[in-house]
Formats: sequence, C-alpha cells, structure tokens
Amino acid sequence: MAAGPRTPRRARLTGVGAYVPERVMTNAELEVMVDTTDEWILARTGIRERHIAAGDQATTDLAAAAVRDLLDRTGTAPSDIDLLIIATTTPDYVFPPCAPLVGTMTGMDSVAAFDLNAVCSGFMYGMAQATGMVEAGLIRRAVVVGADTLSRIINWEDRATCVLFADGAGAVMIEADDGAPGTGVVGFDLGSDGSTPGDLWVPAGGTRTPITPGVPHADTCIQMNGREVFRFATRILVESSARLLREAGLTIDDIDLLVAHQANERILDHASERIGIPREKVVMNLDRLGNTSSASIPLALAEARDTGVLADGALVLMVGFGAGLTWGSVLARWEPRP
Ligand code: ACO
Repeated sequence: MAAGPRTPRRARLTGVGAYVPERVMTNAELEVMVDTTDEWILARTGIRERHIAAGDQATTDLAAAAVRDLLDRTGTAPSDIDLLIIATTTPDYVFPPCAPLVGTMTGMDSVAAFDLNAVCSGFMYGMAQATGMVEAGLIRRAVVVGADTLSRIINWEDRATCVLFADGAGAVMIEADDGAPGTGVVGFDLGSDGSTPGDLWVPAGGTRTPITPGVPHADTCIQMNGREVFRFATRILVESSARLLREAGLTIDDIDLLVAHQANERILDHASERIGIPREKVVMNLDRLGNTSSASIPLALAEARDTGVLADGALVLMVGFGAGLTWGSVLARWEPRP
C-alpha cells in the first residue's frame, strides 16, 4: 500500500461474509464432559449448540473462508482490496500474524495486512481503523475480519467457561463512497480499562509467564470471573451505546438494528431493556453459535442480512465488549453494493 495525495471522503459498510466450521457441539455433549446440564446452560446463557473447528483448521482457515464469502457476495476482485485487518485473539502462531497469510490464501497479493487484538471488541476496533484510513484518503477499500478459534484455548474441564465459547469468522467491506449519497459509517465509541486483567484472561503463554513444563494446563486456557464480566458487560453495553448516540445527535428510536457481542442472552436482554430498544430489533444467534469472540458481531450481521432482518439502508448499532477490559461501539448504515 502506498498513499499519495489524500482526499477526505466517507467510508461505507457495503458487504458482509461469514464462515462457521461444520462440526456442531450440542449441550448434550458437554453434559458428558463436565458436571452441567442442557437446562442450566440454556437458562443461564441462552446457548443450545456451537460450532467447533476441525483438528486441521486454524484461525486463518476460518478467516479465509469468510473473506472468500465476502468477495463472492460483493463481486470484488482480491486485487481491489488495499487493506486487510484481522481481529483475533487466537492467531495460528505468535508470529507471523494471520492477516498476511489470509491475504495470500485469498489472492490479495501484496495487500497491506495486520492483526489486531482487542479480544471480543477487536472487530469494532478494526472497523474504526479501516474507516479512519478510508476517510483520511489513505486507502479506498478495506476488509475487516473477526476470526477466533477459541476451542483451542478452552479448558474442557472447566464447566464455567467451556459451555460458552466457540469458533467462527466474519468479514466486512469498508470502502470509499465515491460521492454516492448515503450516511456511511457514522461514529464510534472505543474504550478500555486495564485495571482487572484477571477478570477474563489466559494467564500463561505470553512473555510474563511463558509456557514451561511446570505451568498448569488450566493457566494456558481461558479463565474468567463470570459475575464480574457479566456486571461489566451489562453496564458497558448501555453506557457505550448511549455515548455514541449522544455524540451522533441520535436517539435509540433512530436505530433499526442492535447487533451486540453474542456473549449471553441474559446480558443482551438486560442491556436492550435498559437501552430501550424493542426485542425485535436485537439480533441474537448465540443459541446456535455460542460466543465466538471477535467473530460474533459480523456473524450476527451476516445472519441478519440472510434472514432479511437487515434491510438496505438500515442504521445499525454494533457493540462489542470483552477482555482487557475493552469495549467498542460502531454506528453505521448498511449500504450494500447494488
Ligand atoms: N453448569 C452447571 N453449573 C454451573 C456451570 C455449568 N456450566 N457453570 C457454573 N456453574 C455453577 C457455579 O459453580 C455456581 O455454583 P455454586 O453456586 O455452587 O458456586 C453456580 O452455577 C452459579 O454460578 P455463577 O457464576 O453465579 O452463575 P451465573 O448465573 O453468573 O452464570 C455465567 C455464569 C453464564 C458465566 C455468567 O456469569 C456470564 O455469562 N458471565 C459473563 C460471561 C461473558 O460474557 N464472558 C465473555 C465476555 S467477553 C468475551 O467474549 C471474551
């Protein structure tokens, strides 16, 4: 990527692609693995089943499938993509990052490509980055992917976490409006609070505690203080949405669809009630997909498009939250290519 003279313009959200692995794991299977029940999981989380990557699939495989779906649906040549951002917390390797590999896998020769880690908020941060680059005139077209293979860092003996998380990938196109009428990507609310990293983390495997023979397996997997994360999630969903709407000079009545991180049905119910958005405007697919971290928002967006809930021109409020703690909200009009 090389940037010449720059012309400010609006960025638009024009396409979405998705991929989930074939293998479906039901709550009944988890009943055999840990001391849990289908009733408990359904009542406390809303999850019935989730998709789990095959043994030979890694995050780049999921991401590349979502990107191919996006390029097919939008009729875009890989060579027309200037920037590829992959939001993930489960890369194939410590390095290289996933993005250059996925660029090559999908035919985007020489594309500018990098990974971004803001855990479950990563996709929102990626959309903000892409929008900023497009609107600054540095690039014309970006693909932003959220992809995670959380099954590889789940402790399958920990009933408090193994019932929640899953695998998948989603991708969106952010591109310059070329003067076409439309609202484009309206605004963002991004933030973080790093004061309680242990509320949701993988303690070992980084530079503070490298994986050595003495490190317990549980420390190489997701550990979570569920009640604290629940409290944070319900609060931040409401606060971040309200801040963004206020900045944009809009009210919740202007919003056609809320696509929030698919972590827990009770979090979404609680937050949407406090935000004051009717249930029929809230997208939920966690019953079938579980919590796919950075993939959850684009996967929910893709499903809303497929089921007709996401109408052309709809104003969509997307809200992500997760480990860090981090959060990110994006307000964008859905303006698919004709
Ligand atoms: N099956 C049966 N019982 C269980 C299970 C299970 N799978 N998991 C926990 N329990 C038990 C606990 O041990 C506890 O038992 P105790 O009372 O004897 O100690 C009891 O159920 C209640 O536990 P809580 O943690 O209070 O249960 P809660 O109603 O809070 O639900 C849950 C737990 C679902 C994890 C909830 O706290 C939650 O959803 N938190 C937010 C999690 C989240 O969203 N994380 C991800 C966000 S960011 C990201 O995606 C990376």
